[in-house]
Amino acid sequence: MRILYLNPCGQMGGAETSLRELLASLRAVQPGWELWLVLGEDGPLASKARELGVKVVVEPFPAAVGRLGDAGRDPLAVLRSVPKAIAGTIRYRRRLARIYGDVKPDVIHTNGLKMHLLGSWTCARGTPVVWHIHDYLSPRPLMSRLLSWNRKNCAAAIANSESVASDLKALMPDLKVAKIYNAIDFDRFAPRGDRLDLDARSGLPAAAPGTVRVGLVATFARWKGHRTFLEALALLPEEAKVRGYVIGGPIYQTDGSQWSLSGLQQEADRLGLAGRVGFTGFVDDPAPAMRSLDIVVHASTQPEPFGMVIVEAMACEKAVIASDAGGASELFVDGESALAHPPGNAAVLAQQIARLASDENLRRRLGTTARAMAERVYHRKRLAGELLSLYRDISHTPIEMRPGSVQIEPSLPRIVH
Ligand code: GLC
Repeated sequence: MRILYLNPCGQMGGAETSLRELLASLRAVQPGWELWLVLGEDGPLASKARELGVKVVVEPFPAAVGRLGDAGRDPLAVLRSVPKAIAGTIRYRRRLARIYGDVKPDVIHTNGLKMHLLGSWTCARGTPVVWHIHDYLSPRPLMSRLLSWNRKNCAAAIANSESVASDLKALMPDLKVAKIYNAIDFDRFAPRGDRLDLDARSGLPAAAPGTVRVGLVATFARWKGHRTFLEALALLPEEAKVRGYVIGGPIYQTDGSQWSLSGLQQEADRLGLAGRVGFTGFVDDPAPAMRSLDIVVHASTQPEPFGMVIVEAMACEKAVIASDAGGASELFVDGESALAHPPGNAAVLAQQIARLASDENLRRRLGTTARAMAERVYHRKRLAGELLSLYRDISHTPIEMRPGSVQIEPSLPRIVH
């Protein structure tokens, strides 16, 4: 069995972390399979995939294709940028066709909007294409239309949550959609292990003993709620022994969709937060950063399709405050394994931070329940089992599953509100 994965981005965003776990899960149960990965951009994902024995081809997108994206942009501006990207797309399509010819995959698995399109435009006759959908399509008018026109070339789609699956089904009722939750690495995301000196990384003096550390761990995409987080910190009373941390950096090529570090620092200054919030910049491994926090905040202002950070922080036994919408709401039970706040509501977020900051027992209780819940659902055997049954449904090559190597049915009921 030979599977070709296509991913636009080389940096480790949520979809890339998810893909790495997927490759690791599959490797563990099907060591004899040949896995290939084409990246539209070089970056850390290339070496991380190679370490797993995946054959990686970096085939950079032409600049105009890399910048093209319609998240949060006015549809006219998007349409105007399309012609520039067309020539690049045609060239890229030719390069992909050459790779298909060399690899001769049994299944093509695409992991990003541009690759869903390019993958299905180029697909070799008869080779099933799987779209792995990590984001809502309905807010992206151009992309959803283009994908819908090409849906006949997609054998099945994977959605990372029930919520994303419903969004997709509403747009393309005849598409075969399977919900498959992501998996995470429980050895890396564990309560014990290295920690990051957040103060030193942020260029701040060491915080006073007893300070409660609260961090937002996210890429700099605008909808990840950095402003809400900073506003919530500003609403805490001056005497609260809390220090905030913004952990992450801008990693995407797409125009106009993300904060810059200086933009966020200006926001913090405007809110009078100088010295009360640190900016670590991009961290390669979020686990040590999470372990150094007392509270991990997820603050997306739009419904979060899944939210790797929520599950990773739960696995580190952290007290999590998450934005209660979209797929993220499927991942925790409010008051048991995390606390919730409505998306974009800085006042409620501030209340939840204050509540947790003053109650160490509650933090501990939430963290312990969170780890146990995460371990039951987001593990590799479940992911591998679901993925293999999907590949088996669509592929022309017979696929064997060694008994006991995978878990087809999650052993517990789905965790939903
Ligand atoms: C995308 C989604 C995010 C999800 C990740 C992995 O980045 O926006 O919610 O956690 O993919 O599926």
